[in-house]
Amino acid sequence: MQADIAKILFPREQIAQRVDDLAGEIVRAYDLETNADLVLVSILSGALIFTADLMRRLPQPMRIGLITVSAYRGATTESRGARVLRELDVDVTDRHVLLVDDILDTGGTLRLVRERLLLARPRSLRTCVLLRKPSKAPIDLPVDFVGFDIDNEFVVGYGLDYNDLYRNLPDIGVLKKELYSC
Ligand code: IMP
Ligand code: MG
Repeated sequence: MQADIAKILFPREQIAQRVDDLAGEIVRAYDLETNADLVLVSILSGALIFTADLMRRLPQPMRIGLITVSAYRGATTESRGARVLRELDVDVTDRHVLLVDDILDTGGTLRLVRERLLLARPRSLRTCVLLRKPSKAPIDLPVDFVGFDIDNEFVVGYGLDYNDLYRNLPDIGVLKKELYSC
């Protein structure tokens, strides 16, 4: 698996440090009386590992909600529109929602999930992504917490996949070009 990686962008230690800092930003953004109504909504499968690490650094009481979305990639690195594969499994009405995803690329995934969540009338809705590709990220999509801005490269590891593989790599790296079809 490691042999398929052209270069490591973020080694595990750097990810851990940034997740610590992000958790600090999030704790400061929510004041104490909102804590009891906090729901972390994780967009599977990509945000699985990021969510697991982030939530353990947040001391406030919270519920976890899961929604599974496919960006229709398969053996390609192009996004072809997002689709919900499994619906959200927790009630967010009148609660403070923190939406967590692995990466903001075209914004299709976040837009789809935001629209669904807003229908349920949460008390507030904030968004946290570990990675953002700024070249393509749409300006009408607000993101409150960002781990790292990256160039427009296809990355894997720490939950991010290519054709459902590489999610279990502890570091985030760029896949060798000869391994994927665009
Ligand atoms: P968007 O809908 O185009 O913003 O794409 C977001 C989703 O596509 C993310 O939740 C990821 O699952 C996936 N994705 C986007 N860019 C990458 C990448 O560089 N590597 C792996 N997955 C990616
Ligand atoms: Mg994803």
